[in-house]
Amino acid sequence: MTRRHVGAETLNYEKTDIDAELREMSGGRGPDVCIEAVGMEAHSSGVQNLYDQTKQQLRLQTDRPAAVRQAILACRKGGSIFILGVFAGFVDKFPLGAVMNKGLTLRSAQQHGHRYIPMLLERMERGELKTDHLATHVMSLDDGPEGYHLFKEKLDGCVRAVFEPGR
Ligand SMILES: NC(=O)c1ccc[n+]([C@@H]2O[C@H](COP(=O)([O-])OP(=O)(O)OC[C@H]3O[C@@H](n4cnc5c(N)ncnc54)[C@H](O)[C@@H]3O)[C@@H](O)[C@H]2O)c1
Repeated sequence: MTRRHVGAETLNYEKTDIDAELREMSGGRGPDVCIEAVGMEAHSSGVQNLYDQTKQQLRLQTDRPAAVRQAILACRKGGSIFILGVFAGFVDKFPLGAVMNKGLTLRSAQQHGHRYIPMLLERMERGELKTDHLATHVMSLDDGPEGYHLFKEKLDGCVRAVFEPGR
């Protein structure tokens, strides 16, 4: 979807060594900016996955920070990391040494609706932001439980269920 609608180059984390690919694409330097938009449900593989899953199940950490670790380790020296994915509590094996030694800028934010929604709606109205493709399931309010189920389980190609009162 990102490739089709935004025109971005994409890498599949399930099939590619992301760190190696990013270095290759950036002349060995790493990206200037890494935006983490995955949050505490990050998937990973191998020992890291086993470690995170076990610690989470044993309540020794609340979240799985695989994508945050990856962003910090991949980012170039002096680069910036933005953590937009939601985290709830504590994480383990946070590469603080890399943040410090590479001089990274770390920022995060819950979306500030009151501040940004009016600007975003205006840009949508002017056709500068296209969002139609995200509303894969437009439903009535009565279909709310079904919409949430489709979204949560990622069924039927659901990206966003949008509810229209009176539909
Ligand atoms: N900061 C905010 O205000 C704000 C607002 C809305 C949503 N969020 C958060 O943003 C995150 C994403 O939300 P969403 O609705 O797009 O979720 P989503 O489940 O639709 O998308 C998450 C994507 O991350 C991918 N992913 C999982 N592990 C990955 C990894 N290791 N590397 C790369 N990609 C990986 C999944 O395949 C999936 O496509 C969630 O944590 C959500 O809570 C934050």
